[in-house]
Amino acid sequence: ESLLRPTASLAGRKIAVTAGPTREALDPVRFLSNHSSGKMGFALAAAAQRAGAEVTLIAGPVNQPTPPGVKRIDVTDALEMRETAERAADLCDIFIAAAAVADFRPAEISAQKIKKTGDGERESLALVKNPDIVAAIAARKERRPFTVGFAAETEKMLEHARGKLARKNLDLIIANDVSAADSGFDSDRNAVTVIDAGGSRELPPALKTGLAEQLIEIIADKAFAQ
Ligand code: CTP
Ligand code: CA
Repeated sequence: ESLLRPTASLAGRKIAVTAGPTREALDPVRFLSNHSSGKMGFALAAAAQRAGAEVTLIAGPVNQPTPPGVKRIDVTDALEMRETAERAADLCDIFIAAAAVADFRPAEISAQKIKKTGDGERESLALVKNPDIVAAIAARKERRPFTVGFAAETEKMLEHARGKLARKNLDLIIANDVSAADSGFDSDRNAVTVIDAGGSRELPPALKTGLAEQLIEIIADKAFAQ
């Protein structure tokens, strides 16, 4: 720990971080999800804790150890993540949405295992959109934390990320080209660009742990600038 660069002091500050995928049940044995490992969110929670913050980590189903000193709340699906995130956001100074929330969930959860019997070769699946957790928190009129989102993109990264920054009313967005080799979802490394209304800053590719330290420093500077 002593080898890590010191970060901006977040003593007395409360930070909530969402991390990992969500898992949307189809039936008792199946779900829709994605490849998010949770590494970036967990690294951010750890870095914020080391910088002195009181950290709540809202984690989807991942295989990651809980960072020391961090309060972890495990959730499964997007609706549960939203409930937990809204409660944490009531109390925090900074909200960081690093989770890869499933955009859709099955319209119905079948109580019994769905059977393949029937005539058709294909079955279609009715989906409904999940609520946008970070956008709802950023849209608050009261108890609105400094709100940070991620943008995982496979093309037109800056354009899409700027669009999300504006549309979701975020204070800051961390753009991430998930199509780049050794970057993004399941990797230990990442290359990101930090964007706010004032401009953008590209950070060189680095281990997610080191990147998290840098990001927490940048976020703390922006959140507590005045
Ligand atoms: N996010 C969220 N709730 C959702 C979907 C996304 O809080 N239901 C957050 C993510 O945690 C991330 C940001 O929104 O911080 C952007 O997520 P992303 O998947 O890149 O963008 P979407 O708005 O879902 O758009 P799309 O997937 O179509 O690119
Ligand atoms: Ca999405």
